[in-house]
Amino acid sequence: MKIMTVLGARPQFIKASAVSGLIRKQHSECLVHTGQHFDFNMSELFFRELNIPRPDYDLGISGGTHAEQVGFMVRKLDKVMQEEKPDAVLVYGDTNSTLAGALVASQNKIPVIHVEAGLRSFDRSMPEEVNRILVDCVSTLLFAPTAQAVKNLEQEGFSKKTHLVGDVMYDIFCRFEPVVRERKPVIIHQWGLKEKGYSVLTIHRQGNVDKRKNLRNILEGLSQSGEMFVFPVHPRTKNILSEIIFDNVLKEFGPRLRRIDPLGYIDFMALVSGGKMVVTDSGGLQKEAYMLGVPCLTLRDSTEWVETIKTKWNRLVPVETDQIRMSVKNVKKGKRFSRLYGDANAAEKIVNVITETFCHENTYY
Ligand code: UD1
Ligand code: UDP
Repeated sequence: MKIMTVLGARPQFIKASAVSGLIRKQHSECLVHTGQHFDFNMSELFFRELNIPRPDYDLGISGGTHAEQVGFMVRKLDKVMQEEKPDAVLVYGDTNSTLAGALVASQNKIPVIHVEAGLRSFDRSMPEEVNRILVDCVSTLLFAPTAQAVKNLEQEGFSKKTHLVGDVMYDIFCRFEPVVRERKPVIIHQWGLKEKGYSVLTIHRQGNVDKRKNLRNILEGLSQSGEMFVFPVHPRTKNILSEIIFDNVLKEFGPRLRRIDPLGYIDFMALVSGGKMVVTDSGGLQKEAYMLGVPCLTLRDSTEWVETIKTKWNRLVPVETDQIRMSVKNVKKGKRFSRLYGDANAAEKIVNVITETFCHENTYY
């Protein structure tokens, strides 16, 4: 069968590196990059480093409001799907590229396969939560990464199309862990750091970045904690940090805030593994911190990765200066639990279920 994969954002490239190769062993794949992320070190770097097949299409759509972005993607994807006529369309996660891919496929009566289905933060003020709900609704196959995701899908009446397979990011983590461990001393040396003498910061959520007050609270709280942070700066955040209103807080932070360009997956994971803690609003990084045994503070009111909270490796921290300062000072390790994210064979299970469903059963639509 011919599977069209639609992706566009950094975490989706990492996820595709687990799945695309396996799809191509049993089926043919047409890879469509929407263009949502386009800087070299937000896109091309991952294709090279993780050996992801080249996109067959790059639609070059980025920026704008959410509605504009999805609208432009829908228009171009409609054309591509009508030309390519795939048997199914596969999408990852919860970005605007995920929503656009799923919408156009369902409007063209092409079955949708959603990898990383069923996650819910129950906070509809985040565009990602709305994207997750809509994409799960129109999907034919839902691949859940966690037991909680399965429960969420059951509650929404989707049990029949749900498969618990584990997390494809855990597949990738296990594949690269030895390389990451080897790279750790190299990256620590390269940046002139001491193991556990620094922490890693990433911020890119619209609510934390575009709302200047929140971004300032974050920087002030972290600065007042006295810790040193290495901060690979996401392009959304870089644009806003260049505004004059951040000059003072950045000056106060001084050399304890090392702003660097976003890193490739292996360098980044090596950096995190040598760090004392992670402070982030990323989705994927909350899990990776747990996988690496590094405590995490998440600058959000809710998370879709609730297991990381239950194991106490992750804590939600409101975006208030004092709360952030105190949380950094009191950060603690959690408890280890096994198999939270599966057996590192999620991608294999996904491709096997796809083959079973579409090539053997013929009862899917
Ligand atoms: C998007 C996803 C978010 C995901 C994140 C991963 C949505 C709604 N959001 O957020 O769920 O966690 O990706 O990183 O889909 N930009 C560049 N160069 C790039 C990438 C982005 O300059 O390579 C600029 C864009 O032009 C835009 C801004 O950064 O102005 C934000 O990018 P966008 O993709 O819209 O949202 P993210 O914050 O990256
Ligand atoms: N990541 C990376 N380089 C960086 C920052 C993050 O490779 O400089 C990886 C990180 O290890 C994780 C993924 O990017 O696998 C998370 O992406 P992001 O935080 O952009 O998106 P989210 O997970 O929040 O959707």
